[in-house]
Amino acid sequence: MNKQISLTQYLVEKQREKNLIPAELRLLLEVVARACKRISYGVGKGDLAGILGEAGSENIQGEVQKKLDVIANETLLEANEWGGHLAAMASEEMDHPYTIPNRYPKGEFLLLFDPLDGSSNIDVNVSIGTIFSVLRLPEGVHVPEEQSFLQTGSHQLAAGYAVYGPSTLLVLTVGDGVACFTLDRETGSWWLTTDGMKIPHDTKEYAINASNARHWHEPVKRYVADLNAGRDGPLGKDYNMRWVASMVADIHRIMTRGGIFMYPADSREPGKPGKLRLLYEANPMGFLVEQAGGMATNGHERILDIQPAALHERVAVFMGSRNEVERVTGYHGGES
Ligand code: AHG
Ligand code: MN
Ligand code: MN
Repeated sequence: MNKQISLTQYLVEKQREKNLIPAELRLLLEVVARACKRISYGVGKGDLAGILGEAGSENIQGEVQKKLDVIANETLLEANEWGGHLAAMASEEMDHPYTIPNRYPKGEFLLLFDPLDGSSNIDVNVSIGTIFSVLRLPEGVHVPEEQSFLQTGSHQLAAGYAVYGPSTLLVLTVGDGVACFTLDRETGSWWLTTDGMKIPHDTKEYAINASNARHWHEPVKRYVADLNAGRDGPLGKDYNMRWVASMVADIHRIMTRGGIFMYPADSREPGKPGKLRLLYEANPMGFLVEQAGGMATNGHERILDIQPAALHERVAVFMGSRNEVERVTGYHGGES
């Protein structure tokens, strides 16, 4: 009989066998998983729990906050602030980092998150999720501030996302491949359901918000035109298009069966390089995609090598199946 492996057992074994994760990091990841479980239960109750609709506020990026954006943010803060493993947290929904209150012990890790990804899908019962990234407090820093979070994605110790879909899943990397856990809603346990997720190098599926086509820069216009030209075009095959508008759901599809996800910079807001945020969307997803054998760039360079200058900095994103990400990066060839 195949014995099921729980999230705890998976993490303990990673700690024991490969000495990959210190006990404090394991605790942190288990607490994040617990918070995601709580968010999942709220999402599952939907209107019965009064969680749909707008919160009546805006975040620092000028986006209208949904009730669930705020609830998920508070759930992650409350779950993580008292355990003693964190120095500070940063979130899409908070202007500035949240330092651990003085009544609690402090640890050496920094947690960053997009508490609720895919906000436009909350009220229409389509898959949404949570994205998170773990960094270490830089050496010699005792009081964490915004600067402490401005590390390249290659410094991440762990990253993951939860998808609140037909099943609730937790997809996680500690830098040794990618594992997927499924939540058993009856017992409240996470069980390993796929170890060593691998993104196929080739794909016939792409994901982009095509309604922005008129705003795209030339390289993206050319690349998408070539994809759409199909079998008779320069790429010699027919492609299919999928766009959920929840990054977690689109990336999860790509982690499962391949594809390329794109959110390019465009001419609408020349000062902003794209829509997605580097530190708590692109970096954790880039880490997971690379750990699954895929590739992640901003059209010019590896996302995980970009030195952030601000907490809520945005970045153009091309990630997923290696050969397509290489191709679209090649189309850029020095152009923006
Ligand atoms: P968030 O809900 O955290 O603000 O993120 C939404 C993001 C991402 O999940 C998705 O890929 C993208 O925005 C959708 O953008 P469009 O509205 O342009 O489709
Ligand atoms: Mn998001
Ligand atoms: Mn969000």
